[in-house]
Amino acid sequence: MPVVRDPSGRLLLGGVDLAALLADTKLATPAYVYDVDAMAGEASELEGVLAGSPHLVAYAVKANSAGRILRALALVGCGADVVSGGELQLALGCSIPPDRIVFSGVAKTDEEIDRAIASGPHGICAIQVESLEELDRVAARARALGKRARVSLRVNPGVERGALSTHDYIATGHDEAKFGIMRDDVSFALTRVSEAKEIALVGFTSHVGSQFTETGPYVASARALFDVVRSARSDHGAELTFVDTGGGFGVDYGEGCRARPADFVRAAQGEQRAAGLGDLALFVEPGRSLVATHGVLVATVIQKKVGRRLPGGRWLMIDAGMNDLIRPALYQARHRVVALACDAAASVVDWKVVGPVCESSDDFGVHPLPEEPARHVALLDAGAYGYTMASRYNGRALASEIFLQGGRVSHVRPRQSTDAWVRDRLDT
Ligand code: LLP
Repeated sequence: MPVVRDPSGRLLLGGVDLAALLADTKLATPAYVYDVDAMAGEASELEGVLAGSPHLVAYAVKANSAGRILRALALVGCGADVVSGGELQLALGCSIPPDRIVFSGVAKTDEEIDRAIASGPHGICAIQVESLEELDRVAARARALGKRARVSLRVNPGVERGALSTHDYIATGHDEAKFGIMRDDVSFALTRVSEAKEIALVGFTSHVGSQFTETGPYVASARALFDVVRSARSDHGAELTFVDTGGGFGVDYGEGCRARPADFVRAAQGEQRAAGLGDLALFVEPGRSLVATHGVLVATVIQKKVGRRLPGGRWLMIDAGMNDLIRPALYQARHRVVALACDAAASVVDWKVVGPVCESSDDFGVHPLPEEPARHVALLDAGAYGYTMASRYNGRALASEIFLQGGRVSHVRPRQSTDAWVRDRLDT
């Protein structure tokens, strides 16, 4: 369950009082706190929907790559969708078997392709090829290694950008996007596949964007993908084992999200059956929806700043910045900011919550918070694309991470030291 406030005003995540947690662990803020069991619960729900027919929930590691989270998701049946050699190595290190890993990405290096082909006895489940040029490169690498590479073709279904109804920066399935093979080019790709004996085509895939709050765009692109798959089978005799409709299931950041992850999966299953492709395994690649709402970023309030001459200027300055959580600065995303401990009787005013980074966009927006500033605040729904997108900009240390499992702290990774950053920079 995401955060809840108990009757005495304490903010709880996974049943744990966050203010007490900070006091007990004496951890430096900013600190990410994750409810790992709840994340695994999200994955189990999808496993439940897909049970009974061949499938793979390939967790998109980029959303949150903490080993504890990957291992917990793997335990309930997830595989992994990786986008770099580093993520591939991590997934394997978390004991995710190679044949439960798919590898997406528009510009894989030869070294990364080699690693994918050489993992396990048959390579990974599929290298998701995103261009005709990449197909040739994968074939060349497989030839050089004396192996066969299992490949799926990532199709760009060419859904109109407006129809994708998400932020432009996270829409990938339209004609101007760099992602995937254009529908018109798929038949060229299939001809090349039939000529390259080093390539085993095992599937078709698409991923058209992220943070969809309704199933419409997902279903439209799944339908377009399934059309392509049907003709690949009938016109080219492609022998496939799976179709992969990607991730993108939205979460409620406070502004509502009509569809649940299970709704997206059920809708894709329905389309798959309607397309006569029910014999193929269905793969999905959720990232955000498994982890976002079960993580928070806890920050300490450093000070307030109240404009004397310009009424209305009220800033609450916290020790977490855009380097820790870049989503608001990058996508105008809104993460609710709430006090860790809250006295119901205290008066509340609007504060503009900002971080310490020297950029105007280091701004988390206006939030109703106690007039007398709380000691700590939490930025909600920060379990996805938070720590994984963090940087050391402004010479800042990376945040601490606290993992909750079984209603208690299972692991703490302290904030990284600034000394290491200084040493690294002194060496340059
Ligand atoms: N599969 C592929 C090939 C992807 O590129 C992505 C995300 C996913 C799956 C998982 O999508 P999800 O289920 O998490 O929506 N940093 C942005 C999101 C970027 C998503 C990139 N690709 C954000 O913070 O909103």
